[in-house]
Amino acid sequence: MINKPMQDAMNEQINKEMFSSYLYLSMAAYFENKNLPGFANWMRIQADEEREHAMKFYDFILERGGRVLLKAIDAPKTDWKSNLEVAEEVAAHEAMVTASINDLYELALKEKDYPAQVMLQWFITEQVEEESSAAQVVADLKLIEDRGTAVLMLDKQLSKRQAE
Ligand SMILES: [Fe+2]
Ligand SMILES: [Fe+2]
Repeated sequence: MINKPMQDAMNEQINKEMFSSYLYLSMAAYFENKNLPGFANWMRIQADEEREHAMKFYDFILERGGRVLLKAIDAPKTDWKSNLEVAEEVAAHEAMVTASINDLYELALKEKDYPAQVMLQWFITEQVEEESSAAQVVADLKLIEDRGTAVLMLDKQLSKRQAE
């Protein structure tokens, strides 16, 4: 059975993943309003993935005989200055989530919770990919700056992203 410190920390993580999902949905709406459906697609897929992450913790807590205690989700930002600012915020947010996953892993080591350690390894790997894909979009946007044709090309490319 999952112990109290681990359960509390994972409930906190559910909230962080749900907030990430909410934040990315807000970013998707921002891009839709700017007529950038490809960027919006990228953010929508990310939002779905974050909800799946939340559900992995949700299911894990229940499977281990714990209690899922959902908390209020903060309202996300609704406006950004530029596409680059959005991408930079995604990158910063993912780095924050990585730190939080690492803290959970530390706790699982301290509590000698071996099933949690195994489960968290999936997230550690996932965060490497999440950070690298956000960094790629940041780099692309820095390179193209505000050149319209290039922004459109990147939008087309991001429209092809699919859920994994
Ligand atoms: Fe996540
Ligand atoms: Fe993520």
